[in-house]
Amino acid sequence: MNAVSEPAPVITAANHALRRDFPMRPFAIRHKLAGHPLLTLPRIAQLAAELPRDLIEYNSGKVAISQDPDAIPSVDLDPVEVVRRIETAGAWMVLKRIENSPEYRRLIEDTLLSVARARGFNSLPDAGFEQIEGFLFVSSPNSTTPFHLDSEDNFFVQIHGEKFFTIFDNADRSIASDADIEHSMTKHRNLKYDESLAPRGIEFHMFDGDGCFVPYQWPHWVRTAGSHSISMAITWKTRDVRRVNDLHFFNSMLRGVGFPQKPPGTNAALDTAKLAFYRTAIAAIKPLRSSMAMRRVLRRIALGKRANYYLKKA
Ligand SMILES: [Fe+2]
Repeated sequence: MNAVSEPAPVITAANHALRRDFPMRPFAIRHKLAGHPLLTLPRIAQLAAELPRDLIEYNSGKVAISQDPDAIPSVDLDPVEVVRRIETAGAWMVLKRIENSPEYRRLIEDTLLSVARARGFNSLPDAGFEQIEGFLFVSSPNSTTPFHLDSEDNFFVQIHGEKFFTIFDNADRSIASDADIEHSMTKHRNLKYDESLAPRGIEFHMFDGDGCFVPYQWPHWVRTAGSHSISMAITWKTRDVRRVNDLHFFNSMLRGVGFPQKPPGTNAALDTAKLAFYRTAIAAIKPLRSSMAMRRVLRRIALGKRANYYLKKA
């Protein structure tokens, strides 16, 4: 009808997936982002040079699926060198919050807008795409991202190379308990993994142009095959997700001072009271967060001594 003015969708999925499974279950997608100039190694190296150091995390790619966070081997290169030498560096790297760069923000928003339109919405907020963030992953051949979960919904797009992405049902508390989920969100994301879980995983085998939808807090682990890999996570947080996340963070702080809590959703009235208190306190300290040094101190106070684990010591 208006085929001339309507841009082609950047992300596509089977119709039943976007209508029936989104946002409750994982599903495969296809996308048109492979080869985009912002997603090439030279441009990503430039981004690594520009990003604040606390928004870059990297380590050896030779880690276990069930990886102890205190025993992750490091890589002795600076971030730009890791990107430049990714084919042989034996490394895994994530560049965080790339939406702070206007060019990347436009790319991410245009991509999500195409999904919003496919679902019958005319804008990002109408479709529930709020607090949009982007994460770029660069990894060497045969690298592993250990078993973990994330506190947001995610369209994961494979830009270059072969990748296996295995996702597990977050309703199954024998995979991740309530305490495991709170710990993964607030202390260190890695979860314990046992090979006996393998048959319960949903595996997506991806090449350039493939991807998958990763629902909120569904545990997953990832590995690259014989080539280096470039991937991007396009994430957002709906109002409900932000509420549950804030409650998990406040519960973790209470646990840290000796008052472990039941998970969000157990007691609606108590959740409401805790949320009001927590958000008032967070609003009061917000101006302090503009400095990287203060962000580091605040993470230490809120989350404990391992909160800054990914910042190398000087
Ligand atoms: Fe993840």
